[in-house]
Amino acid sequence: MAGFSFTATAGTCDGADLALVARTEGTPLYVYSRASIEQRYRALDAALAAHPHRIHYALKANSTRGLLEILMAAGAGVDANSGGEIAVARRAGFAPDDIVFTGVGKSAAELEAAVAADLHAINAESAGELERIDRIAQARGVRARVAVRVNPDIDAASHPGISTGGRGHKFGVPIDDARRVCREAAARPGLRLVGVHAHVGSQMTRLDPVRRTASTVAAFAGALRDDGVALEHLDLGGGLGISYDGAPAVDVGDYARTLLGAVAPTGLRLLVEPGRWIVGPTAVLLTTVVDVKPQSGDRHFVVVDAGMSELMRPALYDAYHRIAPVAPRTGPYATCDVVGPLCETTDVVGLGRRMVLPEVGDLLAVLDAGAYGSAMASNYNRHPLPAEALVDGGDWRLVRRRQTVDDLLACEPAAPAGEVLPRALPRVSR
Ligand SMILES: Cc1ncc(COP(=O)(O)O)c(C=O)c1O
Repeated sequence: MAGFSFTATAGTCDGADLALVARTEGTPLYVYSRASIEQRYRALDAALAAHPHRIHYALKANSTRGLLEILMAAGAGVDANSGGEIAVARRAGFAPDDIVFTGVGKSAAELEAAVAADLHAINAESAGELERIDRIAQARGVRARVAVRVNPDIDAASHPGISTGGRGHKFGVPIDDARRVCREAAARPGLRLVGVHAHVGSQMTRLDPVRRTASTVAAFAGALRDDGVALEHLDLGGGLGISYDGAPAVDVGDYARTLLGAVAPTGLRLLVEPGRWIVGPTAVLLTTVVDVKPQSGDRHFVVVDAGMSELMRPALYDAYHRIAPVAPRTGPYATCDVVGPLCETTDVVGLGRRMVLPEVGDLLAVLDAGAYGSAMASNYNRHPLPAEALVDGGDWRLVRRRQTVDDLLACEPAAPAGEVLPRALPRVSR
């Protein structure tokens, strides 16, 4: 298997020495395995091979261009959640027909651009959005390809912050209204209703919600067919979970069989929008220990140079990531609260980890950081975005250079020489 290995002496990624990569590029640093991205994409594609399908990789998980180029070469389409993601996908080389556009709040400008581009499908979230798309398309004299996102009221059995298919969630058209909404959409002159879409949540580690969603959507497509509405595809979103703690995860073959068991009898093409499952395990975040502070007993704070500005998941969702020393020390174990450098108590990487107490300068790897890691990174506390390296055939190259303070300030004009306050504000005389 391609990817990362941590032994008693070294950490490597597909033959590249992680300590050397970190020494050369600095930390915090995301390191990706190209081979692992390709392997995972191909494994899912092969698992779905028995039925016409397309994998529309969810850009929100990670849209670093160097990764998109790999997935495009492998045959993926993409699922975009904003005009920005569509623009990045287009620049990476994806054609409009490779793109589906999801998103609970698409702006007028985003809808105009999406209709003009003739995307594979705009996954509409409401009757109002369908009406707006229809108006734009009619004004252009075209028919926009749309799918209706239904909210099937299914519990994803995942973290509440990443569950999206329940009655109280903001996403999609409630399933009880969706038949009428779809019939009306199919009758609009500016729309071509090509699909039904559902995505009930992310990091699903059980197949039951996947099965229930797939069979609900398949039955719904059958009802629409009875209404005389012929679809082209069913888009069952993403959501397949990965193992963050090393325990066995849902098998991708079982996942594919679960989807196909419901979709194959409809005869409709299947679209899926996986993000996390494809890229999550394909990266680590390398970080350097900058301070070690005793608490009580053998408990210590291990302060590292990456925190919630580089990897937000622990602060946002209490998410667990394994942490591995890249060059392990020998000695007694201690309980380590690995925390970031930001001015927030929630700025943690992992609490209560049993490991040999690291020393300042040691390198740690935060595992399974490929999804919702760099994509959610921010400039909080004016942290420049970290660099990202792609390991390919034992060597590596940067797919994103480290941001500089000049990059940060590029959007903020400096005050004219000698002025500190903007002109419009009254100066205080003393
Ligand atoms: C509509 C939609 N599709 C796909 C995804 C990707 O989910 P995941 O990364 O869990 O596969 C998401 C993520 O929340 C989503 O909202």
